[in-house]
Amino acid sequence: MEKLTVFNIFSSFVFLFSIQLSQAADTINPASSFIRDGEKLVSSSERFELGFSSPRKSRYRYLGIWYKQIPDTVVWVANRNSPIIEPNAALTISNNGNLVILNRKNGAIWSSNTSRKAENPVAQLLDTGNLIVRDNFSRSASEGSYLWQSFDYPSDTLLAGMQLGWDLKNGVERYLTSWRSANDPSPGNITNRLDIHVLPELGLYNGSKKLSRSGPWNGFFFGAAPSYASNLSEPILVDNEDEIYYSYESYNNPIIAILTVNPSGTVQRLIWHERSNRWAAVHSAPTLFCQFYGHCGAISVCSYEKTPNCECLKGFKPKSQHNQTRPGSCVRSESADCKSGDRFIMVDDIKLPDLLNVSLNKSMNLKECEAECLKNCTCRAYANSEVTGRGSGCLMWYGDLIDTTKAKFHNGQPMYIRVPAS
Ligand SMILES: *[C@@H]1O[C@H](CO)[C@@H](O)[C@H](O)[C@H]1NC(C)=O
Ligand SMILES: *[C@@H]1O[C@H](CO)[C@@H](O)[C@H](O)[C@H]1NC(C)=O
Ligand SMILES: *[C@@H]1O[C@H](CO)[C@@H](O)[C@H](O)[C@H]1NC(C)=O
Ligand SMILES: *[C@@H]1O[C@H](CO)[C@@H](O)[C@H](O)[C@H]1NC(C)=O
Ligand SMILES: *[C@@H]1O[C@H](CO)[C@@H](O)[C@H](O)[C@H]1NC(C)=O
Ligand SMILES: *[C@@H]1O[C@H](CO)[C@@H](O)[C@H](O)[C@H]1NC(C)=O
Ligand SMILES: *[C@@H]1O[C@H](CO)[C@@H](O)[C@H](O)[C@H]1NC(C)=O
Ligand SMILES: *[C@@H]1O[C@H](CO)[C@@H](O)[C@H](O)[C@H]1NC(C)=O
Ligand SMILES: *[C@@H]1O[C@H](CO)[C@@H](O)[C@H](O)[C@H]1NC(C)=O
Repeated sequence: MEKLTVFNIFSSFVFLFSIQLSQAADTINPASSFIRDGEKLVSSSERFELGFSSPRKSRYRYLGIWYKQIPDTVVWVANRNSPIIEPNAALTISNNGNLVILNRKNGAIWSSNTSRKAENPVAQLLDTGNLIVRDNFSRSASEGSYLWQSFDYPSDTLLAGMQLGWDLKNGVERYLTSWRSANDPSPGNITNRLDIHVLPELGLYNGSKKLSRSGPWNGFFFGAAPSYASNLSEPILVDNEDEIYYSYESYNNPIIAILTVNPSGTVQRLIWHERSNRWAAVHSAPTLFCQFYGHCGAISVCSYEKTPNCECLKGFKPKSQHNQTRPGSCVRSESADCKSGDRFIMVDDIKLPDLLNVSLNKSMNLKECEAECLKNCTCRAYANSEVTGRGSGCLMWYGDLIDTTKAKFHNGQPMYIRVPAS
């Protein structure tokens, strides 16, 4: 029903009359206008544009958002799964607030899905790069009152202010999905998402296979995150009963910085170099061997500075003397029964192992953590869960220590490993 009505409006207005969009508008409403191929919405300070393009040599047309000065880098694509094959598509907003891409032959080829009906809907491209639909009764609409926003449907790029994580109330996860290939914006297999299993941490996946991980969130940042972040942007983690998400704010707003996943299986933090007119990767993972998930076997630590780079944790030795570059696993140097006395030794500056078979108690201190871990022979290591202040909370690992890495940027944290007392 709605499809038909919109289609009729479309045919009569777009093809019989020629309605010109007033130049450089940032809004459309049902009565006033369409965005046709070649026309654009421009955000109020001209930071972002929305329009139709064939990004990165793709064959078809897509509705996308890009920085005005970087039209080749489309940071959001609306119709990822519904390319515009016939020319002359247009974007409009229906009377009940749905954004619709129309095409003469096929009618609606893509539509947003508003949560509730608007009385007087308008679509607006904000200076954050967020395309929103709001009711024009509340002119200074706060974020909560948007009927729809593109930030809720990330493509392959995280802009400052976007959220990566979980809306726990509605059971919705928001994550980045790579393009299928360099020329095809349809969703590929590479995703970057927030794992919230024990503590929040970022994971890069190929389908269900983990390719790389950050360390767990330690109260300030994701464990062992490179220090570039500290002067470029402020990492934010919101964790309450309604939502858990990662986001970032740019310190220096004119600087253009994005986080993006690509089909070749890397996640990159890119900044725009205005002078040379190109993107520079300030971080790209996994590229170094220790960034590949589980590069070393269990109970060994991956070190950037050592050869071989996989080294058994203190108190352990390689199972076999051969194949030092990738030890399968390590065994306790002395196979003494744990009952005859164990202690813990500290290894400093570590990206903590993956949070498998882990227990967390946020109210324990390090002393209590040690006592608790010592009680149980299967407890292999412990560490603080937060580094804030003098450290707090208790993480205990019962089982293999997978993907333990010496921090590259000297921003890891101490971990305590069980060894025989002798
Ligand atoms: C729109 O949202 C409703 C409820 O959230 C859902 O049932 C429906 O399948 C969605 N439609 C489309 C086209 O995504
Ligand atoms: C929003 O409402 C105001 C007041 O009624 C009107 O002047 C303005 O044109 C409307 N904006 C849009 C985009 O429809
Ligand atoms: C994604 O994974 C599936 C299943 O493993 C595979 O068939 C498909 O070719 C992959 N797609 C890409 C673009 O790599
Ligand atoms: C951030 O700090 C690093 C090292 O301290 C420096 O090389 C880099 O230029 C700084 N970046 C910005 C955007 O200030
Ligand atoms: C992802 O996995 C598929 C097999 O499922 C493989 O063909 C492809 O090369 C992998 N891609 C990356 C980037 O690891
Ligand atoms: C180590 O073992 C792996 C897997 O078994 C093998 O692919 C690799 O070639 C070996 N490296 C050396 C130096 O022996
Ligand atoms: C966490 O540790 C505190 C202090 O030792 C203890 O009282 C509490 O029962 C522990 N909580 C859990 C879930 O084990
Ligand atoms: C040791 O910890 C494991 C894993 O949490 C648990 O299954 C086991 O019951 C514990 N053993 C003792 C003696 O507490
Ligand atoms: C977790 O513990 C269970 C039971 O002790 C064990 O079977 C499993 O292999 C452990 N997983 C890891 C990753 O250590």
